[in-house]
Amino acid sequence: MKREDHTPMNPVVELRSDTFTLPTPRMLEAASRARLGDDVYGEDPTVTELEELSAELLGKPAACFMPSGTMANLAALLTHSPRGGKAVVGAESDIYVYEAGGASVVGGIVYEPVSAAADGTLPLDVVAEACEVDADDPQFALPAVLSLETPHNRRGGIPLPLDYLGRAAALARTHGIALHLDGARIFNAAIALGVPAADIAAHADTVQFCLSKGLSAPVGSMLAGDGASIATARRYRKMLGGGMRQAGLVAACGIVALTEMAERLADDHAHAARLAAGLAGIDGLRLDPEPPRTNMVFFAVDPDRTPHTTATLLADAAARGVRLAELGRDRIRAVTHSGVTADDVDRAVEVLADVLAAAPAAAPAAAPAAQGAAR
Ligand SMILES: Cc1ncc(COP(=O)(O)O)c(C=O)c1O
Repeated sequence: MKREDHTPMNPVVELRSDTFTLPTPRMLEAASRARLGDDVYGEDPTVTELEELSAELLGKPAACFMPSGTMANLAALLTHSPRGGKAVVGAESDIYVYEAGGASVVGGIVYEPVSAAADGTLPLDVVAEACEVDADDPQFALPAVLSLETPHNRRGGIPLPLDYLGRAAALARTHGIALHLDGARIFNAAIALGVPAADIAAHADTVQFCLSKGLSAPVGSMLAGDGASIATARRYRKMLGGGMRQAGLVAACGIVALTEMAERLADDHAHAARLAAGLAGIDGLRLDPEPPRTNMVFFAVDPDRTPHTTATLLADAAARGVRLAELGRDRIRAVTHSGVTADDVDRAVEVLADVLAAAPAAAPAAAPAAQGAAR
């Protein structure tokens, strides 16, 4: 499938996010042949197959097909916490920054944000403090769930180490709270750590991952966990409007995503490393952090070495067909994915070197919002 603006005359290197991936021909073929039914009745065999496959890959008893990662995360938090309960979350996590406060709005859940360390881990002594609440004192919201993100998007796409997850799980158990993992890109984390995704998921009570990012399916996320949690989350999915009828049409793409697109994520990581190496050689750019661990490269304009600003760099690169995103003030993110080849990476490096060698062409734009738009 071709992006409308991607023609030989108008090549675009789309590095804003892996959410821009398009379904593969095999996905479209699978969708056209999918056996369908009404999934709200539990009668869509293709959705059931995707749920069984996902549960198996994550080593969990059950899984539920969700329309989005946002809904999967929300259904998980609603499942683990009563109204007035507390969710300990990363202050830079997708759940806290980019999901419109859903658990608070819909579930009456209180977020307690904890700032992540540079490697994406939430310091466990701070998490412990957030969990140490006198249950007999009526002043306090009672902690119900700890949510971690791996790889951590706003911390450079770094996967959480397995031993850290083990310690976080033990802490959650000690305090009698659930551990939810936002593993939107869990298969990238698995490749970076050199382990099966199930080894990561093993530490969490529930795990969500996205089919629609590097795995390249057009729609959908999975929430996996034990049978009772997933049954409850399925009820919340219906409540939130996520009960989809002949959803096998898109679930078929998800099956291809899991069976054919997970291992190739290693190519995206190699392309990210290639991009980082190219950017490191450009005067006026600073990599942060380096080197990339998964498919994300973060860098910044060095104001001491170029008249460019983040805004002029993004605009001038976009005018030459290289699309990058700001993520937080003066932070630029480039994400590799199945629509980005090694040649595309080389072209992006060439374009950025040219842009930085020239005076800014774009009119200075307004400073980006501190949180940025990239996800
Ligand atoms: C880490 C993380 N979690 C959750 C989500 C939400 O997924 P969705 O866009 O499918 O709602 C994203 C989306 O980019 C993400 O990056």
